Amino acid sequence: MTAVSNEKIPNNVGLSNDKQLQRALEKWLPNYLDWWKQMGPEGFQGQDVFLRTAISVDRDGWANFDYVKMPDYRWGIFLTDAEPGRKVGFGDHAKEDAWQQVPGEYRNVLRRIIVTQGDTEPASVEQQRYLGQSAPSLYDMRNLFQVNVEEGRHLWAMVYLLHSYFGRDGREEAEELLARRSGDPDKPRILGAFNAPMTDWLQFFMFTTFTDRDGKYQLLSLAESGFDPLARTCQFMLTEEAHHMFVGETGIGRILERTCELLKTAPNEDVTKLGGVPIDMIQRSLNYWFTLSLDLFGGEISSNAATYFAAGLKGRAYETRRKDDHVLMDLSYDVPVVRDGKLTHETTSMRNALNEVLRTDYIEDNQKAVDRWNKVLEEAGRPERLKLPHRRFSRAIGEYSSHRFDPEGNLISDSEWNANKDRWLVNDADRAYIQSIQVQVTEPGKMANWIAPPHTGIKGRPVEFEYVRL
Ligand SMILES: [Fe+2]
Ligand SMILES: [Fe+2]
Repeated sequence: MTAVSNEKIPNNVGLSNDKQLQRALEKWLPNYLDWWKQMGPEGFQGQDVFLRTAISVDRDGWANFDYVKMPDYRWGIFLTDAEPGRKVGFGDHAKEDAWQQVPGEYRNVLRRIIVTQGDTEPASVEQQRYLGQSAPSLYDMRNLFQVNVEEGRHLWAMVYLLHSYFGRDGREEAEELLARRSGDPDKPRILGAFNAPMTDWLQFFMFTTFTDRDGKYQLLSLAESGFDPLARTCQFMLTEEAHHMFVGETGIGRILERTCELLKTAPNEDVTKLGGVPIDMIQRSLNYWFTLSLDLFGGEISSNAATYFAAGLKGRAYETRRKDDHVLMDLSYDVPVVRDGKLTHETTSMRNALNEVLRTDYIEDNQKAVDRWNKVLEEAGRPERLKLPHRRFSRAIGEYSSHRFDPEGNLISDSEWNANKDRWLVNDADRAYIQSIQVQVTEPGKMANWIAPPHTGIKGRPVEFEYVRL
């Protein structure tokens, strides 16, 4: 395994052998730090946080924990080791040698893929920047900051590719990645979910469950890329993404545990009387973030998806494990569509339907998380169950965005939609209520009233450990 060097920019890509690239990145570093200090976690830049840092990309080097002030985090460039003789695994170039340089004909497409992925990373840090102030415990605060620094590092990963392989255009794109702002009407982030308001921890846990899992699936498909440096970058990012989804899934699980506990004594089963989070409010937040995240996969019938696949730039998740020809030339795919006000089917080529293929894998993976949440309800003897809404529900991108559907996927009228949307999606009253109960708790081991403690601490430390020194 390649060790990570201890330079100004820690890396395992031999950065010191490429002086021009090193200089370019060292020039970008202070701009990045300015962005971090301005848009990163508000009010906690000087605190010691118990963080995981990479000192090498293998398992042992990865599990390295210590107190760090966030601006001193080892942002760096980590790629999984090269696989000698690697071939393009799919598309029109299948079985040719994987590219170590950008193929000229795909330069623009590839840059767009990298910029779009890169843009999500700082966006989520911006979305989450005030949450430390309402953290339910030091344990949760630390997890939030861990997610934040890793998203910052993911930005580094994409900026490394832009600087290394795209020359001046790449450097300009890297500056733009620091210039856009989540939710800013004039200079928004590129994708919808990354401009959505993150008002509270319920939204944060849903985001890390659903939107970070979109990240997982995008990275899985890019980890298959025939452009080898992108593939290796994304493989390492996936190890970090797993933690983000852990934070989200266990966060919601702990809210459910606490809600079930409070329901035992709540008058008329109204947990708001005891400062808890009602199950229907959890469902509405789930509906909101799940559907926003579905949009991130793009249109159901997409010539872009076909192009990316044909070019060997973006595969399917787990492409190499699949038992087909990886070319998908004469296959077709049935997509439900609305024509003349009715739901019907349209047949498209498999390549045009690859967004839908990835989205389907993603939905199945989410269902497992929801099943685990429902276990909490079941074990507490509650009759309620959480449910993923239908993929057609509340969409802003693709075939279903110009029609209204209920959470079961039935086509409905605008008036039906308007009459029910506050019942289906997290609404202003929900957000105001959650904000009213979310007070910062900073005593080690203590939890806010609305969430149960975690089952274990971090890296063998007890839950009572001082994860952030305030
Ligand atoms: Fe990320
Ligand atoms: Fe993430």
